[in-house]
Amino acid sequence: MLRIGVMVSGGGTNLQAILDRIDDGTLKNCEVVTVVASREGVYALERAKKRGIPAVVISRKSFDTIEEYDSVLIAHMKKFNVGLVVLAGFLSLLGEDFVKAWKNAIINIHPSLIPSFCGKGFYGIKPHQKALEYGVKVTGATVHFVEPEYDSGPIILQKAVEVHQDDTPETLQKRVMEQGEWVILSEAIRLFSQGRLSLNGRKVLISEGNNTITNEEKSDRCAGLRGDIC
Ligand code: GRF
Repeated sequence: MLRIGVMVSGGGTNLQAILDRIDDGTLKNCEVVTVVASREGVYALERAKKRGIPAVVISRKSFDTIEEYDSVLIAHMKKFNVGLVVLAGFLSLLGEDFVKAWKNAIINIHPSLIPSFCGKGFYGIKPHQKALEYGVKVTGATVHFVEPEYDSGPIILQKAVEVHQDDTPETLQKRVMEQGEWVILSEAIRLFSQGRLSLNGRKVLISEGNNTITNEEKSDRCAGLRGDIC
């Protein structure tokens, strides 16, 4: 069983998509064991509560340094024996310590086709505003492994979404979430849970076949003990 820790900052629609795929059997041998929100009062916490998933708020503002923040996050995820960390609309930057603790086992969903419209400050509605301002005909969503810099890790999956002539940032965001984010985030988790992802430099390779491994093996492998990734 792959034990997943999901980190959120907003409405939790990406979290909900993961839970729905677990319920409909698309995501086998996966369980969301904890939800960590960066702030109080976000609806993602309600979604976790409805499912009886232990949820906590761990806010960056409560800590003087990113190292302190990291150590609390690491302790929390280790307490739940998390094998994969999923950033689902999570807006705080994670430090080196946390990223190292789950080497190549932290994935993030971003609402654009990286390397366009990404980096510090590009979250929420902004990527869609910038895509419309630029006049792109296609935008989309990206799932990538997390490294200490915003939106910079190796790309796992991307999904293109057409821009319509009458789009507003809001209508475009809705279509990117529905047709892009909610689809590829769960697919990336499925591939990870089946041990089908590996890295060749920056390139993420997806192997055929399904060699599902246990959470413990996953944790060992992804803690970098074997050097390769899941
Ligand atoms: C959305 O803008 C999404 O594009 C990005 O984070 C925001 C909140 O998503 N990933 P969610 O509804 O909290 O999953």
